[in-house]
Amino acid sequence: MTLDPNQHLTFQAKFVEATLETLLATQALPDETVRPPRLLAAMRHGALNGGKRLRPVLVMEAANLFGRADDGVLQAACALELIHCYSLVHDDLPAMDDDDLRRGQPTVHKAYDEATAILAGDALLTLAFDVITGEAVHADAAVRLRLSRELARASGIGGMAGGQMLDLESEHRERSEAEIRQLQSMKTGALLRYACRAGAILADAAEADVDRLTRFGEVIGLAFQLADDLLDVEASAETMGKATGKDAEAGKATLVGLWGTDRTRNELGRLVEEAETLLAPYGSRAAILSALARFIVNRTN
Ligand code: IPE
Ligand code: IPE
Ligand code: MG
Ligand code: MG
Ligand code: MG
Repeated sequence: MTLDPNQHLTFQAKFVEATLETLLATQALPDETVRPPRLLAAMRHGALNGGKRLRPVLVMEAANLFGRADDGVLQAACALELIHCYSLVHDDLPAMDDDDLRRGQPTVHKAYDEATAILAGDALLTLAFDVITGEAVHADAAVRLRLSRELARASGIGGMAGGQMLDLESEHRERSEAEIRQLQSMKTGALLRYACRAGAILADAAEADVDRLTRFGEVIGLAFQLADDLLDVEASAETMGKATGKDAEAGKATLVGLWGTDRTRNELGRLVEEAETLLAPYGSRAAILSALARFIVNRTN
């Protein structure tokens, strides 16, 4: 397996893509009635093609670190990616960030319409919980319950959705560093933290290892949003596949806005070191996770 994180992500993303494709098939599942074609097409537009698949690949690599790599891991990984995709579909809506471009394509409400985009987000979110509770995810129902509950908490009012609320409330308002850190740990950090934690739980890692991977997830979660905010300042829409300069335009409170780009870059360097220190006990077995941490801070899209 290659250690170039870009190549590795591309390689693993293909499995994620194929699984998402199956989950978003035309055929209704038992206890579903029909899958309305327009809604399914909008969900597929929001979930297939073009994402980096960072969160599912983190689930897969964290599980792999403790010796598990199978379809159940991939299912759990895709449940998380479905939530991420739903969060992007809703994040782009006119009532939220009002964006027309995502992953180099028109956003879901542009390609379809607002009502369809809202429903596509709703249905991606609910599908995620269908998938995470699936028998393949873990043989022990108690572990599936734990993974499901933790996914709910990472995504809901005290996690991503709550963070999005705080983010919207921070437009054109002064926010302290502590407040911005908290909102970022919720809006973006919570799903990345879950990715690393869930991988360890899926592989029946010892609780001390689950805690260590959780801290790793928190560190790269903060790094991820810092890099996103830096790219929003410095990158172009062509390389990002989404509009840039949006945070300043909307008056969003970000750490980059507070610190400037130089200090942000220093902080990113410090966070990578912290992430690598957390992985040190695993030696070369954690080489890919550590390369992914470096990818997160050095990414160009
Ligand atoms: C973008 O996430 C949204 C944020 C949480 C800042 P990604 O950069 O992981 O987006 P995709 O999935 O690769 O498109
Ligand atoms: C979005 O943050 C975070 C979630 C979708 C939860 P941003 O609004 O900064 O993401 P981009 O820049 O639109 O991808
Ligand atoms: Mg937003
Ligand atoms: Mg946005
Ligand atoms: Mg952004």
